[in-house]
Amino acid sequence: MREPGGAVNDAAPADGAAPDAPPPRRAATVHTPVLAAEALGLLALEPGMTVVDGTLGGGGHTRLLLDAVGPTGRVIACDLDHGAIERAAAEFAGRPVRLAHANFRDIPEVLDAVGIDTVDAVLLDIGLSSDQLADHERGFSFDADGPLDLRFDVSEGEPAWRLVARLRPETLADILHRFGEERYGKRIARRIATVREKEPIRTARQFARIVAGAVPPQHPPARIHPATRSFQALRIAVNEELKSLSIALSRIPGRLRPGGRLAVISFHSLEDRIVKQAFLNAQTWERLTRSPVEAGPDEVARNPRSRSAKLRAARRQG
Ligand SMILES: C[S@@+](CC[C@H](N)C(=O)[O-])C[C@H]1O[C@@H](n2cnc3c(N)ncnc32)[C@H](O)[C@@H]1O
Repeated sequence: MREPGGAVNDAAPADGAAPDAPPPRRAATVHTPVLAAEALGLLALEPGMTVVDGTLGGGGHTRLLLDAVGPTGRVIACDLDHGAIERAAAEFAGRPVRLAHANFRDIPEVLDAVGIDTVDAVLLDIGLSSDQLADHERGFSFDADGPLDLRFDVSEGEPAWRLVARLRPETLADILHRFGEERYGKRIARRIATVREKEPIRTARQFARIVAGAVPPQHPPARIHPATRSFQALRIAVNEELKSLSIALSRIPGRLRPGGRLAVISFHSLEDRIVKQAFLNAQTWERLTRSPVEAGPDEVARNPRSRSAKLRAARRQG
């Protein structure tokens, strides 16, 4: 089980590897960091600074943070995904980075574990990475024949297919409505209840098909897959995403030096609302962004995932 603070290790050698063993071979990341220049600019990093990347993912932002703080600075990078930590251990060998398999809501415990009191900046780029989306065993993509798992940390908690199998239709409808803003939540939940009486619902593809069959056809056809909101809702539920974000936002100021900066990139309105609300606390934060920074047309053309990204940043009051 993951302790608060998680296992913290230097970038190399990889966790559990013999000191001079070659790092484990993992496929290179397919994730492209979003709003990278904008986030880096708002964090105003300088050589020698200590920074937390709360969402390591494919390591794109971590690399840029490392470059910005230079060899005299330090980056502490967390992720709930074991694969992200393993990949980064190999990739950042020899660089001043500490990796922690941890939830970003436990950043204070991660810092305690490495003997750091306060840091100069924190970055959170929340949600899921393209590496997770591409791994069909994780169930994040609609056409995955792997289990509908949807956990960032597969060693903890309950996979989504189990929620789909055991929750009452009213509870499922509530999750779809609250975490997916899905207006057809009740219809979808009723369809799930009917189907699961006849066959177990296990794979992401199967779940996507059931949802698509439950919602009325859209005219004109919707831009997004009809199961998008339902996947989002289950993912938020199994990972307690909104709760983690709220806890993190309440705890990070205690570990940021006065004048230190926090930047958060979110991908849907529920998360953005929480960040916006937190930054309105003028005793704690001086906002650096009144409205969220969004990707320009060039970035959206290069990386369609950036279309829904919203970046907000604030400075801790001194
Ligand atoms: C959008 S990706 C980050 C991509 C990264 N910035 C990059 O440039 O490659 C989000 C990552 O955050 C991780 N994550 C999501 N919620 C988390 C949490 N509460 N604590 C730690 N990591 C989390 C996911 O596992 C995923 O790897």
